[in-house]
Amino acid sequence: MNITYYGHSCFGVEIEGKHLLFDPFISQNPLAAGINADEVKADFILVSHGHFDHIADAVSIAKRTGATVISTWEIHEWLQKQGVTNSRPMNIGGKWMTSFGKVKCVNAVHSSSLPDGSYGGNPMGFIIESPAGSFYYAGDTALTMDMKLIGEYRKIDFAFLPIGDNFTMGIDNAIIACDFIGCANIIGMHYNTFGYIVIDENEARNSFSRAGKKLTLMKVGETITKP
Ligand code: NI
Ligand code: MN
Repeated sequence: MNITYYGHSCFGVEIEGKHLLFDPFISQNPLAAGINADEVKADFILVSHGHFDHIADAVSIAKRTGATVISTWEIHEWLQKQGVTNSRPMNIGGKWMTSFGKVKCVNAVHSSSLPDGSYGGNPMGFIIESPAGSFYYAGDTALTMDMKLIGEYRKIDFAFLPIGDNFTMGIDNAIIACDFIGCANIIGMHYNTFGYIVIDENEARNSFSRAGKKLTLMKVGETITKP
């Protein structure tokens, strides 16, 4: 399992030759200026919610690649209006067994409107289970007691958690989330892109390590194997 960071909350995860792309926000992200959205690979695009910093490049990448876009019913309908034909509507609590493994939608405590103001349904996170490993992609969310259900549902190998505060959990709550989800191996996301969510990266890593947990902060464009 290879993980590539495209900035903000956008990651590519390659599972046995299948490319999953989470929350594509590349062409409008100055921190991702070195990434060409027209070259990013995708067989599946998973969109956690409708905010522009999670969906900005979804339509163009879906049309170019023919990838299946996985999101809420409301975002599915919006994507169809934008001319995206290959879209899988899901909702919280549902799971889908597909070619790379299983995707399960879980609760996120946040909001979700689309760039044109349309209602995006409830924001979601995803649990991915595959022969190569299992992980949780939280999307934009506050710390929530529902995360304890994730810890009880599956043993996950690592998790993508937002750590930038202001719009989502910050570092302090992300450390608590580790205990709720039963996983101490975290890749941070949703930080530094905007002035509201700037963090001190060293302090963030130190806070995790003082709590006996590991925070990986990837460089934009960097690819790692499963942390
Ligand atoms: Ni958001
Ligand atoms: Mn966001």
